[in-house]
Amino acid sequence: MNYSIITYGCQMNVHESEKIAGILKEKGYERESPLEEADIIVFNTCCIRENAENHAFGNIGALKKLKREKKNLIIAVGGCMAQEEGKAELLRKKFPFIDIVFGTHNLCEFGELIERKRARRKAVVSLLPERGETEDHIEPVRRSYPNAWVNITYGCNNFCSYCIVPYVRGRERSRRAEDILREVRTLLEEGYKEITLLGQNVNSYNSDGQGGMSFPELLDAVAGMGGKYRVRFMTSHPKDFSEELARVMKARENVCNLLHLPAQSGNDRILSLMNRRYTREKYLAEIAMLRGYIPDCPVTTDLIVGFPTETEEEFEDTLSLVREAKFASAFTFVYSPRTGTKAAAMEGQISEDVSKERIMRLVEQVNENTRALSATFVGKTTEILCEDFDEKKGLYLGRNEGGRMGYFESERNVIGEFVNLKVERANGISLYGKLV
Ligand code: 5AD
Ligand code: SF4
Repeated sequence: MNYSIITYGCQMNVHESEKIAGILKEKGYERESPLEEADIIVFNTCCIRENAENHAFGNIGALKKLKREKKNLIIAVGGCMAQEEGKAELLRKKFPFIDIVFGTHNLCEFGELIERKRARRKAVVSLLPERGETEDHIEPVRRSYPNAWVNITYGCNNFCSYCIVPYVRGRERSRRAEDILREVRTLLEEGYKEITLLGQNVNSYNSDGQGGMSFPELLDAVAGMGGKYRVRFMTSHPKDFSEELARVMKARENVCNLLHLPAQSGNDRILSLMNRRYTREKYLAEIAMLRGYIPDCPVTTDLIVGFPTETEEEFEDTLSLVREAKFASAFTFVYSPRTGTKAAAMEGQISEDVSKERIMRLVEQVNENTRALSATFVGKTTEILCEDFDEKKGLYLGRNEGGRMGYFESERNVIGEFVNLKVERANGISLYGKLV
């Protein structure tokens, strides 16, 4: 039988969809197919910003006709949005043809829900208020070779005032280090060449004592298994970034010299309202500390514009932070009020026009940084782990350790191999050149 999974949101969800594919495989859905040929379609949703939700609503709505034509088609909606308070009812009301609704807290139950749906005509809705069984035992169907995603924590305790994640993903829980290390060892034996450790805040790994070691120790152990492979990790929270971690990044050749460190804003008053628990000065000091160990270490970030009450001057602090921190690239977002969060109830919401104007200026500044850094690669050789072949461009592609995307020709299939790219030109974060 065939399946389609549509994923919204972050890497966390991308990996969760690999686990959903694992559950589907167990239930006899072996082949991934286009929507029209699928026997089951699963939406793995995200609710972190309103546009991700709107996107999912649009795509689910578009299936009405297909469902009418294909009575046996099962449509399931899971993920953060389904977990959000009141959303399951809204989904069912808007789209009565949905067969299964499940949340982030009961992913493990999904297989059983499919069985239940197959056995009866009525829709099956199952949500838990708190995280149930963790999904560690689910064998994912991985789709990102040569990279493999590995969860190290689930959930988040930080309650940044704008963010819905702690509400839909629950309190932070650390996986046991021995389970993580076993998974990584198996992945390396299977031939994966890049391991990316995943958590909302990897630096607070083991804060519940369940991990058995600190994050720098875990990273060191993950990187120390012998053979050639890379290790990445995301996301780090500036309030917990440590010198010990910078030391491991420097000492372990195969831990990529790249740090994703969301700043969110460059202004102290806004940072405080966001409940981020660091200042601009502390943030910049951390980057300086890291670059003391690893000169010019690329740092990427997340930035939000239009947080309630943000003034023009405060926004300009974010612009100047982009220059001062020399971000290698950045994800930029317009603040989106999320029901139930502290910020959504704040006075002084910023108008769409102002936010739009600010994000355009921010994107321009980020692009300037991106171009400047990419230009430094021209004429140099950089090591790329080949990930894929771009049919349209007719070129192979992969990333260097700092996350720049390299494109090149090759007569031989080099996917999964480390190759050296002599860069001839750069465009945005993309580098084009020849293998040497
Ligand atoms: N509005 C805009 N951006 C948000 N993010 C999280 N919540 C919101 C929100 N309500 C951004 C943050 C975070 C990234 C994953 O998404 O920048 O780091
Ligand atoms: Fe959301 Fe803050 Fe947790 Fe990141 S650290 S998931 S922004 S609450």
